[in-house]
Amino acid sequence: MNALLRDPVSLADAVTVHRRTLIAGAMARDGGGIAIVPTAPERQRNSDNDFPYRYDSHFHHLTGFTEPQAWLVLTSSGRSTLFCRPKDTEHEIWDGFRLGPEAAPAALGVDEAYPIGELDTRMPQLLANQHTLWFPFGVHAELPARLEGWLAEVRRRGRYGVESPQSQRDLGVLLGEMRLIKDAGEIEIMRRAARISAAGHSRAMRFCAERFRAGAASVREYEIEAELLHEFRRNGAQSPAYTSIVAAGANACVLHYAAGDAPLLPGELCLIDAGCEVDGYASDVTRTFPATGRFTAPQRELYEIVLAAQKAAIAVTRPGARHRDAHDAAVRVLAQGMLDSGLLDRNKVGDVDAVIESAAYRQFYMHGTGHWIGRDVHDVGEYLALDEAPLEQPDGLGGKVVKKPSRILQPGMAVTLEPGLYVRPAEGVPQKFWHIGIRIEDDAVITPQGCELISRDAPVEVDDIESLMRS
Ligand code: GLY
Ligand code: MN
Ligand code: MN
Repeated sequence: MNALLRDPVSLADAVTVHRRTLIAGAMARDGGGIAIVPTAPERQRNSDNDFPYRYDSHFHHLTGFTEPQAWLVLTSSGRSTLFCRPKDTEHEIWDGFRLGPEAAPAALGVDEAYPIGELDTRMPQLLANQHTLWFPFGVHAELPARLEGWLAEVRRRGRYGVESPQSQRDLGVLLGEMRLIKDAGEIEIMRRAARISAAGHSRAMRFCAERFRAGAASVREYEIEAELLHEFRRNGAQSPAYTSIVAAGANACVLHYAAGDAPLLPGELCLIDAGCEVDGYASDVTRTFPATGRFTAPQRELYEIVLAAQKAAIAVTRPGARHRDAHDAAVRVLAQGMLDSGLLDRNKVGDVDAVIESAAYRQFYMHGTGHWIGRDVHDVGEYLALDEAPLEQPDGLGGKVVKKPSRILQPGMAVTLEPGLYVRPAEGVPQKFWHIGIRIEDDAVITPQGCELISRDAPVEVDDIESLMRS
């Protein structure tokens, strides 16, 4: 019901006006035309019940507008048109405040706004005599069919001298480049999201320690998840940024395990990969901690390897380095750790270079070390340096591939750094390590000097985790 109290004028956002100007400018430099950006559809969960609504990230980036059933149309000359739900007292009584097209120009800084019901009649007019049509490819499943209808209508007017668009371009490329570099305001929101997530992880650690101290024989994964969600919401995060992973013991070796109802038992590790979303920005944080607050020797041995791998990744995360350098640095430390701990047998796999060359490390580390993060937890933006020549590189599977090198990091980019080790029972793998799954994940913003870890309020050193869980 908050929406009823919202002052529409407070939605006015010079930042989104500026972003639209930048995108229009980028289109103009690349042949001009007109762009269409719908927000996300509402999705039915069951019966009369929808999934919680989440607007489209590109659309929100360009408008700041959070209502469903809205479309932004932007020309390369900078003219912006919004289609949105009309004011409707009856609907607003049931579903809440609507901005409405009359208030939208003042509130959002768009040049004009119309009711969503006029989309089909107005779009052919807006598309007339625009030679290039831009939209984010592969995002909105219903868009191509809607476009076909509008384009057919424009073509029908051809005999009256109206030209219809001749080419379609991916606006996602321009938006991806723009969203890849975060401004100070975005970074501040991301810091807040990361701080709240870190508080959630610390709370979950304390909760487990207290439950076992109070005599519990086990703690269920869903109880731990509830602690995270409580901490997210009580601090104002709107929702989790992705499905929370709370994995007790062996479940940690299932990479996309969701919080279930398995019991976490004394002596096991708990892996939590959970982050909240604040004002449209994600955080993505993983911690692995011992159920009762004390690592066993084998758990500690593997944990220290993963932590050292993360530190190696952090050390190379700075302007001028390539995105892939963090992965290569982490893999080298993990591979060395696999040999030193006996996870891999030197006599069979050779030295660290051989382990990397053959990708033998993938038995225990089968994912990448990080991704862009921003509005989307796996955020938009090209990972390759498209303006550089292709090179022969490892394909990560023990072979080679010719492709463009990984992209060079710049201040304002944001990445996750998330090495791990996952040990499934197998012949030759020391039994003391079986079923241990460990990941440590933090969010980092590239600064002029290096990187700022924004989720580090959650303890990560063995001593700090054990001391938090003792307190
Ligand atoms: N939580 C998703 C990821 O770590 O990429
Ligand atoms: Mn994660
Ligand atoms: Mn991640």
